[in-house]
Amino acid sequence: MSQPRILSGMRPTGPLHLGHLTGAIDNWVRLQETHACFYSIVDWHALTTDYADPSAVKENVLEVATDWLAAGLDPARSTLFIQSHVPEHAELHLLLSMIVPVPWLERVPTYKEQQQNLAGKDLSTYGFLGYPLLQTADIIVYKADAVPVGEDQAPHVELTREVVRRFNNFYGPVFPEPKTLLTPVPRIPGTDGRKMSKSYGNAIYLKDSPEEVRAKLRPMVTDPARQRRKDPGDPDKCPVFDLHRAFSPRETQEWAAAGCRAASIGCLDCKGKLADYLVERLAQIHARRPEFAARPDTVWDILRDGARRARETAAATMDEVRAALKIRY
Ligand code: TRP
Ligand code: SF4
Repeated sequence: MSQPRILSGMRPTGPLHLGHLTGAIDNWVRLQETHACFYSIVDWHALTTDYADPSAVKENVLEVATDWLAAGLDPARSTLFIQSHVPEHAELHLLLSMIVPVPWLERVPTYKEQQQNLAGKDLSTYGFLGYPLLQTADIIVYKADAVPVGEDQAPHVELTREVVRRFNNFYGPVFPEPKTLLTPVPRIPGTDGRKMSKSYGNAIYLKDSPEEVRAKLRPMVTDPARQRRKDPGDPDKCPVFDLHRAFSPRETQEWAAAGCRAASIGCLDCKGKLADYLVERLAQIHARRPEFAARPDTVWDILRDGARRARETAAATMDEVRAALKIRY
């Protein structure tokens, strides 16, 4: 039983949508076959941006965990846990803060980007600057060999490797340098054509019923050139077609693209077919979901049990770290 170890994390932003499925969960479920997996709901990371109003964090943690279980993350095979249940992450974050130069954090591209994107929030905090260092601690406290992430998170794994090299240089080889397992992330637009996101109110959720899925797709933005049924369109300019690429079989994609260009199908026909495949895909998730949604206590128990297992690994690492830093008394 020495499979390579991976760790990944997800912020508790609320119920999961199609973007989470294709961008992370599908891949995480597959990795369970070949890797020892640690998957964490990173509630402290949520506080780096939502510190002024943390009232939704608890409910969001439960939503994420319920969707994880429904989507096939299996607590018998993977360690599923809440970050703040494993205080070793915080201890390691503190110790790493002694050795990381502030400019390393200031030049992480997401730092200034997110400050601009979330201009309504004061993100000039110590905690927000340390966001990627906390992520570093999440990863290396398990000595993870690899981290499955999308492109946007690659700079954080790069920082992780730099911090590991610096640590190992000072104190000896305690940590392996984790690899980035880049998840190819298809473009998943929301119903308004922008990136799918809860905050835009344009998301299709994993828990949406077939009727909700169809009702959300019907008014979805299409190629603006197709004003009328007889106007030909360009699937490459249509967000609905991006969803076909992610969820429909090849023949259907070809049918939609040809029908769109020739104006031989209408957008509602095109969306209807997409809805059929989406509903079919979500049916697998809906088959498992009620079992967990109806029993939050079971979900919390699963997360507590995951944390207990995670702590065994994390505590062993911290013992070595304290020894390396000459503070094991
Ligand atoms: N920063 C990641 C995100 O926003 C979440 C995260 C926190 C993470 N800790 C992690 C991802 C460790 C991978 C590994 O998506
Ligand atoms: Fe988009 Fe399909 Fe309409 Fe073409 S037919 S514009 S691909 S929804």
